[in-house]
Amino acid sequence: MMSEIDYRNKLILAPMVRVGTLPMRLLALEYGADLVYTEEIIDWKLLRAERHTNEVLGTIDYIDTTDGTVVFRTCPEERGKVVLQIGTASVERAVAVGQMMQNDVAAIDVNMGCPKDFSIKGGMGVALLYDLPRAKAILDGLVKGVRIPVTCKIRVMTDLHETVELAKVLQSTGIKAIGVHGRTKTERPRDPVNEDAIARVANALHIPVIANGGSQSITRRNDILKFAKRCSTTSVMVARAAEWNCSVFRADGPLPLDDVIRRYLQLSVRYDNSPSNTKYCVQMMLRSLQESPIGRRLLDSQTMQQIWYDIWDMGDYCREMQLRYHFAGIKGRRACRPRTLSENDQPTVTDDNEPTANKKQCLQETPSDTDPDPLNEENICFIRSNFIDDNSLPKSKLYLHAIRNGLPRAQYEVQQKDKLFRAIIRFNGQRYSSSFWEKNKRYAEQAAALVCLLKRGVESRDDLIRNGAMLPDNNASAAVAAQVGKQSDLDDGRETNVEVKVRPMAEIC
Ligand SMILES: Cc1cc2nc3c(=O)[nH]c(=O)nc-3n(C[C@H](O)[C@H](O)[C@H](O)COP(=O)(O)O)c2cc1C
Repeated sequence: MMSEIDYRNKLILAPMVRVGTLPMRLLALEYGADLVYTEEIIDWKLLRAERHTNEVLGTIDYIDTTDGTVVFRTCPEERGKVVLQIGTASVERAVAVGQMMQNDVAAIDVNMGCPKDFSIKGGMGVALLYDLPRAKAILDGLVKGVRIPVTCKIRVMTDLHETVELAKVLQSTGIKAIGVHGRTKTERPRDPVNEDAIARVANALHIPVIANGGSQSITRRNDILKFAKRCSTTSVMVARAAEWNCSVFRADGPLPLDDVIRRYLQLSVRYDNSPSNTKYCVQMMLRSLQESPIGRRLLDSQTMQQIWYDIWDMGDYCREMQLRYHFAGIKGRRACRPRTLSENDQPTVTDDNEPTANKKQCLQETPSDTDPDPLNEENICFIRSNFIDDNSLPKSKLYLHAIRNGLPRAQYEVQQKDKLFRAIIRFNGQRYSSSFWEKNKRYAEQAAALVCLLKRGVESRDDLIRNGAMLPDNNASAAVAAQVGKQSDLDDGRETNVEVKVRPMAEIC
């Protein structure tokens, strides 16, 4: 059944790259937005992502299989209200994305306003307004091919008559609404917004027009409504004003920025948002305060823990959630494996503690593996901050282990697939590898060394679970929990048995 959205009388969080991720969308909804757009996501990025049900977070995740990053994450709280904005220049890819995602989003929007070079060169964004047959074909394809409402977001053209005619052509495809940013492709955000142009389009179309571009005159909900009135629309999408203080949507007036940041951070931790994305959004909120002591401390922070502890002094919630996720076996990056290994994926071979040589050697790890040395595998990731100095690194430890036991040094083979790396160690007639694909070659070697040290009894499984290198399976979790303090009363009433000093998940990923 076709899902419907009434696009009239809607206050909307506009699409914003990096800003429109799940925590910000939820924040906007909490403060009174009716609909929330995702950041623009390019079609091929979605098409190479895999859909995962994340049972620990209660989310649906689309994970980039080449590097494990979350391309799109959504949760039941935004169901029926989240609009996916895509960047596309291809009917086939747009329809494929729409069909793949229509059960997880309320509507799909095509970005026809982005003036960035990278969009235009790819025939996307505002380039589509200068290639109307293609723009129309994409919308036609989507309207026919998916069950959810389809919209697009455009900029105004220098010629107002042309803008209206173009909007009418787009309307003829059967889209349900159109977002109009009242600036031309060459105008910058600080230039005045052409409210009259938006009004001209709104008056000429029979579908709802969503006015956009008014942030400079918006600091509270009433300003949004006034902007809508001046533009002859009933719906508005707000970008920068919401980026600066998302409580702009609140009926009772905006909240102090500090309250907004705290709530944003809570949602970021709750949904395991990446620290770099969280930091970016908080930086955008702090804007003019970036040179202040608090701004400088934020710029220096690397992890979610630091953002919380050092700056907002709210570490308990962060720590509890991260520990809970860890012990609930959150996968995230760990679920990520390259899909296939092609013949071009060449491993490099190195000696223990020596630079990688160019010598190439093929690695086999499939059931047809004919290597006489058995392969020992564990899912272990290397976390640099677990090791205080170079001598304590797993590779160094393995090197010393070999010397002490009069064994030949370990040989490292590194395999690369897309942006991920995996190492296999050959040591004393056995092979060792981590099934966790690391983001660089050095980490892959260290992770494989940890597997080897674990299997040879030099490292203990419990220690690796405690410091976050391994995920606990149910039995191991219980065993570790039995040894350490018991912590309960986490905010949803579930009880986890955790030691307070376990490394947090955000530092792991
Ligand atoms: C940080 C940022 C990211 C943006 N990313 C997108 C995007 O992904 N897709 C899009 O259509 N517009 C994007 N825009 C443009 C906004 O959606 C909006 O059209 C523009 O900022 C004007 O609205 P405002 O005056 O409310 O800010 C972005 C704007 C900002 C500030």
